[in-house]
Amino acid sequence: MEDEPKKININNETSKKEEIDKNEGHKHKEKYIFTMDKDRLLGKGSFGKIFAGYNKKTGEEVAIKLELLSAEQPQLISEYKIYKTLQGGFGIPKVYECSRNKKNIILIMELLGESLEKKLNKCNRKFSLLTVLMIGEQLVSRLEFIHSKNYLHRDIKPDNFLVGRGNKRDTIYAIDFGLAKKYKDPKTGLHIPYRDGKNLTGTARYASTNTHLGMEQSRRDDIEAVGYMLLYFLKGSLPWQGMVLKDPKRKYDKIKQLKYDIKLEDLCAGHPVELEKFIQYARDMKFEDKPDYNYLRNLLRKAAAENGMQFDSSKFDWIVIEDKEKGKEDDNDIEEKKDGNKINKIKNK
Ligand SMILES: Nc1ncnc2c1ncn2[C@@H]1O[C@H](COP(=O)(O)OP(=O)(O)OP(=O)(O)O)[C@@H](O)[C@H]1O
Ligand SMILES: [Mg+2]
Repeated sequence: MEDEPKKININNETSKKEEIDKNEGHKHKEKYIFTMDKDRLLGKGSFGKIFAGYNKKTGEEVAIKLELLSAEQPQLISEYKIYKTLQGGFGIPKVYECSRNKKNIILIMELLGESLEKKLNKCNRKFSLLTVLMIGEQLVSRLEFIHSKNYLHRDIKPDNFLVGRGNKRDTIYAIDFGLAKKYKDPKTGLHIPYRDGKNLTGTARYASTNTHLGMEQSRRDDIEAVGYMLLYFLKGSLPWQGMVLKDPKRKYDKIKQLKYDIKLEDLCAGHPVELEKFIQYARDMKFEDKPDYNYLRNLLRKAAAENGMQFDSSKFDWIVIEDKEKGKEDDNDIEEKKDGNKINKIKNK
């Protein structure tokens, strides 16, 4: 049974033992598989904390997402189920298990690298055009896969896309399915009905214009949000950012107004016209339309070609920076070794 609580040892607290035994019905000889490292906080979302940990059997590092049992709007179990449906997809983190202790629901998943927001900070708050286009191409493919499994993501933002670790640092992973929603019945293929008057779900900065209007979200809205996020990466910010209004409703209204008032042409000025076409395409889609993912990927590739660039996954800005820094460190090591040799030689003399 996939959703059955399994063994976990949080902080090696023996007090948890009893509870885990109860849950497990003494089925497993080995009691604790995962250990959490409370000193390694990976992130704090609006719904809980994420810590690093490891698998005691294999030594493999993992990420542990917690949600208080007392959470007003629990969503981690449903997120786990969605992850399960998406397992095996490229750029989808592996999930290992979901369990609970006295305080939390606990989701154990693959440990990934930093989010695109953190990478943006490390790259002086702007990505190069090539990096943005390559991110865009991967995100279109991620959405194509998620949509093919009948889900909408509904919370497109830079914190919800993480790069992989080690040789996966050129892969962008989609995380955080806390707001994801099934838009199609897998059995009948029936699309959810159109509705309006809905509250804003997701993140206002990247929300589609139709989401601002209170329309039920569909595939088009994930795509439009990716368009805004790509512009954000190129520009470093969006024109509707930084408004100081205490009342969130009034703030969202202002963002909506600005998104509507600004001409797409002006919003995208100074950047490849293909980005404008990308957003326009999403805005022109009808509620139930399936996005033409190939068309969108081709737009991004065309923008690269028009600017004399070719997609090359070793050229993501953070990879170039990290390799440069690594090169410097290696040079320093060589210098130190050289110095060391000198000392040795002098001493030997
Ligand atoms: N598997 C992982 N590996 C490494 N870091 C992770 C992992 N999962 C989450 N994080 C970090 O924790 C942050 C929050 O995670 P997540 O988005 O899943 O939580 P949330 O509570 O749903 O957040 P939100 O505030 O977006 O609603 C991420 O932005 C990321 O920095
Ligand atoms: Mg998140």
